Amino acid sequence: MLTRKRHSQTRDDSLSTTYGNRFFTKDLKTFRMGEESLPPASVYQIIHDELELDGNPSLNLASFVTTWMEPEAECLIRENLRKNLVDQNEYPRTGEIQHRVIHMLADLFHAPEDGDIAGTSTIGSSEAILLGLLAHKKRWQNRRRKAGKSTDRPNLVVGGEVHVVWDKFARYFDVEMRTVPLSPRRFTLDVDEAIRRVDENTIAVGAVVGTTFTGQIDPVEELNEAIEKRNKEQGWDVPIHVDGASGGMILPFLEPGRKWDFRLSAVRSINVSGHKFGLVYPGVGWLLFRNRADLPDDLVFRVNYLGAEEETYTLNFSSNAAFVIGQYYNLLRLGKKGYRSVMENCRTNARFFAGKLSAHGRFEPVDEKPALPIVAFRLRGKHAGRENEIASELRKYGWIVPAYTLPPDAEKTTLLRVVVRENVSRQMLDDLLGHLDRSLEVLENPPARKKAHPPLC
Ligand SMILES: Cc1ncc(COP(=O)(O)O)c(C=O)c1O
Repeated sequence: MLTRKRHSQTRDDSLSTTYGNRFFTKDLKTFRMGEESLPPASVYQIIHDELELDGNPSLNLASFVTTWMEPEAECLIRENLRKNLVDQNEYPRTGEIQHRVIHMLADLFHAPEDGDIAGTSTIGSSEAILLGLLAHKKRWQNRRRKAGKSTDRPNLVVGGEVHVVWDKFARYFDVEMRTVPLSPRRFTLDVDEAIRRVDENTIAVGAVVGTTFTGQIDPVEELNEAIEKRNKEQGWDVPIHVDGASGGMILPFLEPGRKWDFRLSAVRSINVSGHKFGLVYPGVGWLLFRNRADLPDDLVFRVNYLGAEEETYTLNFSSNAAFVIGQYYNLLRLGKKGYRSVMENCRTNARFFAGKLSAHGRFEPVDEKPALPIVAFRLRGKHAGRENEIASELRKYGWIVPAYTLPPDAEKTTLLRVVVRENVSRQMLDDLLGHLDRSLEVLENPPARKKAHPPLC
């Protein structure tokens, strides 16, 4: 008996060795919850090791989302992971920090000095866009009801270049989407065509600074002029919502003179992703209204079940406070000078890369001098149309570079896209260019199929 017990103790002791315990050979039944508990160290290691099969975030050039933050920022994020942002009564300093960030961004986006801005943090730009457009729909409904007019057929006017979340808004919230198609040569909003689609039932017109497809910028100033003219002529009040998911945290530093924000009178709301060029890990986004009056009161909920009366305008009630704090860290730490130097580096590297592609002969960047650090490009010459194969070849080196088709009427164009985030150095781009060359070679000389051996007799 004694010997047996000792033996079983020895087996249990083996649980403490990382790769020597029985869980590494156990079928864990990962689609149904197990009956037994497992030791934390083993579970950690098993999950950690499985996740090694994911792509490397630093080489994920498909993503706009931040993959590096300073150790001090990470430390603050870790320290605050336990805080629920909605508990503002319990975490008043966190609530205060959120307000400060909203005010800093409003200032960056030139909200009127004498106005009373409104804003909220969100999980990302998607939630911010849904909430922004919902506010415009409600304002339109309230206006129409007051005038005794029908509210049956709201519509939203956008270009084909908008992110899928705009389509989601239309579908989820029963709004007709009036889309101006792209053309085979133009991948941003055609203002004349947009204005043609605007009528008294238009809840808002959308514009994007930094489109998902090409990183290009819609002509917001021109749109503003045209909308204001139409509003004046017709007595309408059609607002613009600017999707600044990426560009919103780039343009203020690289092109402070370019008007795309609240300096334009019809721009009533703006979204930006804190977790893109706001340089914070996912997920944090921001929604700002030009004036408190742009956010109808009947959409703001007041609850007191957390201890004191609080206002909330979000889709989800609870969310993590840590990334809002990460955003505050970056704004304080970097200041305008710091953000400018990061964005300048990103753009310098993006332009270097676009220039090299253009000089190469086999590639054609959409813009040789992109305004934002996003390089969309296609193949030129005999390999045109084989962008998907290039993306697959690059994947073999670890690079994640997406290949995708553009929306109608530019759907015949397939592009590859590299987002030059802050961690994408000149050295990395040199390496990527080398691997692009090797990928082309594979297209030129596909590996010969191995001959099947004759059957052995
Ligand atoms: C222009 C644009 N708008 C909206 C979104 C959605 O942003 P998020 O991922 O922060 O929800 C993206 C994402 O890439 C985007 O590029």
